[in-house]
Amino acid sequence: MPRRYPMNLLILGGTRFLGRHLAELALQAGHEVTLLHRGRSNAQLFPEAEHRIADRDDAAAFAAALGRVSEGGTWDAAIDTSAYFPRQVAQAAALLADRVGQYQLISSISVYASFDGLATDESAPRLTLPGAEQAQAVTGANYGALKALCEDAALEGFGERALIARPGLLVGPWDPTGRFTWWAERLARAATEPDTEMLAPGDPLGPVQCIDARDAALWLLHQAEACTGGACNLTGPEEPLTMAGFLAAGQAALAPQARLQWVDEDFVLAQGVAPWSDLPVWLPAVSSGVHRADIGRALATGLQCRPLAQTFADTAAWAAQHGGGPQPIAGGPPRPAVGLAPAREAALLRAWHARG
Ligand SMILES: NC(=O)c1ccc[n+]([C@@H]2O[C@H](COP(=O)([O-])OP(=O)(O)OC[C@H]3O[C@@H](n4cnc5c(N)ncnc54)[C@H](OP(=O)(O)O)[C@@H]3O)[C@@H](O)[C@H]2O)c1
Repeated sequence: MPRRYPMNLLILGGTRFLGRHLAELALQAGHEVTLLHRGRSNAQLFPEAEHRIADRDDAAAFAAALGRVSEGGTWDAAIDTSAYFPRQVAQAAALLADRVGQYQLISSISVYASFDGLATDESAPRLTLPGAEQAQAVTGANYGALKALCEDAALEGFGERALIARPGLLVGPWDPTGRFTWWAERLARAATEPDTEMLAPGDPLGPVQCIDARDAALWLLHQAEACTGGACNLTGPEEPLTMAGFLAAGQAALAPQARLQWVDEDFVLAQGVAPWSDLPVWLPAVSSGVHRADIGRALATGLQCRPLAQTFADTAAWAAQHGGGPQPIAGGPPRPAVGLAPAREAALLRAWHARG
């Protein structure tokens, strides 16, 4: 059943990237917004929203910050961007199940057990990992299995009122990972060095998927209005995209004269280049199913993706103003660098041209 408008929304998070865009769009649309966070990441944002400060891992502080129903503590929807452990979702459900109309869990496309090269739809098997329930820290190895357990906790706590959103690679301004941003900055540099080659990895026809976090946020807000439930892959673009199309969109936005030099996947890998981190977004053919998620359900429920060239332009402009490199999670260790350093890329290109 469609909701009243404007809505009264609770965002568990809301001050870094996806949550930041969500809060901004929700406020622009006239919704009442409550943000719950620890006050560590950009806490000065959104003075027009209500901020409740608590560490959700401190059960008493979390409960106190959510307040009582009698104090107005009910919401049309809660959007949870900051859950990584099933105990966090179970705790949210214990406190919120009777107080929200819908609960949205921001899960991840990483929940899937395998990407076999075919389009992965929402019914595909999910990862399991023995002992994941007891994990105290998120790692690359347990992230997907922990998100799958978070999904189970959401369904147990909220039933059909749980929307499980499974984003693919989120990109655009305020991305703290620096991944897509590296390509935007690389292309912006190519515009200043039009005679220099730029390395383009692997198969030009290999698939790529990513979604502008602002488009993901708008879709999530529409799902709050429509009160949908169930699981949904959330990535883009609307039409299949190749690595060549990905770079062409960046060239169109930032560096029309950039000279791409395509370099074979086998050569790139033999040189010790790490897919996804040394060359963000790019995956070799064996892993490229990650970029072939079926987004039919998201499209059928209103997902609209802006042109990728616009995301490239906006990301480069944001990065030039604010710095686009990887940002540490508040209070956490520095994130490792992403993307090839200019000297390494140049050396790879020299080696490519000099091969026998
Ligand atoms: N980036 C991607 O490509 C990608 C892909 C798939 C899925 N995802 C998922 O997307 C979600 C979005 O993350 P985001 O960083 O963009 O969201 P965000 O809502 O913009 O930022 C995270 C928020 O959570 C708060 N927070 C963190 N730990 C907390 C705690 N213990 N208690 C209370 N608040 C806490 C942070 O504020 P304080 O630090 O001030 O507490 C911040 O407001 C994540 O769940 C991620 O797994 C991301």
